[in-house]
Amino acid sequence: MRRIGMGLVGAGFVGPHHIDAVRRLGFVDVVAVAGSNDESGRQKAQTLGVPKGYGSYQALIDDPNVQVVHNATPNYLHYEVTSAALAKGKHVVSDKPLAMTAAQSKRLVDEARRAGVVTAVTFNYRGNPLVQHARQTIARGDIGTPRFLHGYYIQDWLLNETDYSWRLDPDKGGASSALGDIGSHWCDLAQHMSGLTITHVLGDITTTLPKRKKPRGSREAFAAAGSGDTETVDITVEDLASVLVRFDNGAKGTFSVGQVCPGHKNDLVLEICGSASSVKWRQEQQNELWFGHRDRANEILQKDPSLIVDGARQYAHLPGGHQEAWADAFCNLMRDIYGFIAAGKKPPDAHPPAFATFEDGYRANVLIETMLESAKKGSVWTKVSY
Ligand SMILES: NC(=O)c1ccc[n+]([C@@H]2O[C@H](COP(=O)([O-])OP(=O)(O)OC[C@H]3O[C@@H](n4cnc5c(N)ncnc54)[C@H](O)[C@@H]3O)[C@@H](O)[C@H]2O)c1
Repeated sequence: MRRIGMGLVGAGFVGPHHIDAVRRLGFVDVVAVAGSNDESGRQKAQTLGVPKGYGSYQALIDDPNVQVVHNATPNYLHYEVTSAALAKGKHVVSDKPLAMTAAQSKRLVDEARRAGVVTAVTFNYRGNPLVQHARQTIARGDIGTPRFLHGYYIQDWLLNETDYSWRLDPDKGGASSALGDIGSHWCDLAQHMSGLTITHVLGDITTTLPKRKKPRGSREAFAAAGSGDTETVDITVEDLASVLVRFDNGAKGTFSVGQVCPGHKNDLVLEICGSASSVKWRQEQQNELWFGHRDRANEILQKDPSLIVDGARQYAHLPGGHQEAWADAFCNLMRDIYGFIAAGKKPPDAHPPAFATFEDGYRANVLIETMLESAKKGSVWTKVSY
């Protein structure tokens, strides 16, 4: 198989997982990493065992051996890094959100189409084998017609006023914090698993901590608050939200997000109640899928390739009882994206399901903006105009 060169821009929390995932594919060379300056580029390359460390994203994009650029920078840099990579004719894997606003994302969709390259966004929960199993069994009618989709995505890493992230600064993270950061994952998963589209939303958003202590130096995501020097800053974005949603088949739904919920680390739950049965997946116990019935006993499917339907089985790589997790699902995503590139395919060729496109990224931006608009109008039903 032809080898493919990859370069990563932004090696903080999630960036190194992009590198781990592509290394596992066996036909991808991690060529370079770019940091925000020469020293950080060099240091990140050394830590991650990558041959070249650049001090600017443009230098990485200009490297002829980099064919696929991964963008794992803070949100405010997504548009400029991705746009520069597309201008150079590189394939792009962007971490979510695709950009800070729907308008920016729309521009990237258009730029990608003109560039004729492969582009993808990391809605990585799609890569879990039981998510794909649920999706396929819903599509063939096992739970009947989906009527009610509900759940939450809650975490506790921003619980205290000493917890701070660039995600809380609208200039760096965007107009939304919790909804954009993790609500976007829940909405993508709900729509992907059910095959439905969210058409209307009613959002209720809260800023639990209107003041926080921001470190004067930089701090990467999920890093514990240190004892360093801080300044008190006003917080205007939401750290907690609840949203009612309506889907295109008439189904209703509700979900909550929050990063101030003690004890919940990365707790994403999605349950879809259909006219015949229900199905529930929980990220923190991702090797189990619950099916609920009225007239017979409920069931729990434990992940086991021999029990997973065709079309989802390829996302499981270990036998039953051998737990697969977040990083494995992330790797599945990369397998779908790089398999598509290696096969010489390009949009609009049909792509595998775990692979979310720039169009999906744009739609996620539109959804979040509509939730904010709904909340601003006093929490009223608002139509989503994609
Ligand atoms: N898919 C997922 O599940 C998932 C999980 C976490 C984060 N993310 C997304 O990934 C992105 C990064 O999040 P994170 O949590 O890793 O943040 P982070 O703050 O931990 O890391 C960002 C990194 O980018 C670097 N950086 C800043 N400016 C740069 C520049 N000009 N050039 C190169 N590097 C630069 C920073 O030094 C830092 O190392 C965000 O958009 C976030 O939404 C996605």
